[in-house]
Amino acid sequence: MQIHIYDSLGQIGVAAGLRVAAMVAEKPDCVLGLATGSTPLPLYNELVRLYNDGIVDFGRVRTFNLDEYAGIDISHEQSYHRFMADNLFSKININPANTRIPNPSPQDIAAECAEYDAAIESAGGIDLQILGIGGNGHIAFNEPGSVFPRSTHLADLTEDTIEANKRFFASADDVPKKALTMGIGSIMKARSIIIIATGRSKAKAVKQMTSGDVTPLCPASVLQFHPCVTVILDREAAELL
Ligand code: GLP
Repeated sequence: MQIHIYDSLGQIGVAAGLRVAAMVAEKPDCVLGLATGSTPLPLYNELVRLYNDGIVDFGRVRTFNLDEYAGIDISHEQSYHRFMADNLFSKININPANTRIPNPSPQDIAAECAEYDAAIESAGGIDLQILGIGGNGHIAFNEPGSVFPRSTHLADLTEDTIEANKRFFASADDVPKKALTMGIGSIMKARSIIIIATGRSKAKAVKQMTSGDVTPLCPASVLQFHPCVTVILDREAAELL
């Protein structure tokens, strides 16, 4: 793991954004794995700026998002479909047909999950995966548990995650309790990974991820086994390193 620590969210956006831009420049039809949550917003703001300045062309880029709340209406303002449209896709020249996010309400969940994994495979796999991290060490919605889930699946959110995400909803009761999420196996197949963490609430998880035991109790710790991971932190998230 290469660890980089920055003073501001602006610097984090630039550091991550330039890495994504370099990937797109090198491979214009690259496959990006995208994340939601508040953490990647500086990155997405930077990508919009790079696009507006004519530096990056997303015309041939393909994307797969990590996850989506099960059962949520895609027009709900907290759906990850809406998040991606509002914060990135509507602001750059990406072809909507080249963007995929798990369907929150499929007729057959197992078939949707299998089809999602197959679509990633047939796109050639993910070249660069963007990740955030939960305060409990989760990545995507792979919560601490007794196994590393291999592929896309329906996951139960933990109480910690419902508590952390309730800030976006009217109350904890309104937070969906399940999500469709890429598995640890799907994430580990990405050829390169950038994981971003900001704020003191992530410090313990960052410490476990980078130097703790590799264990499903901290799903992000599995990234120690990936050959190409860049960790981008602010000083607060890095304070226990
Ligand atoms: C969410 C998402 C994750 C995200 C994490 C942290 O529940 N499923 O993909 O990385 O929690 O969110 P935030 O960046 O808002 O702290």
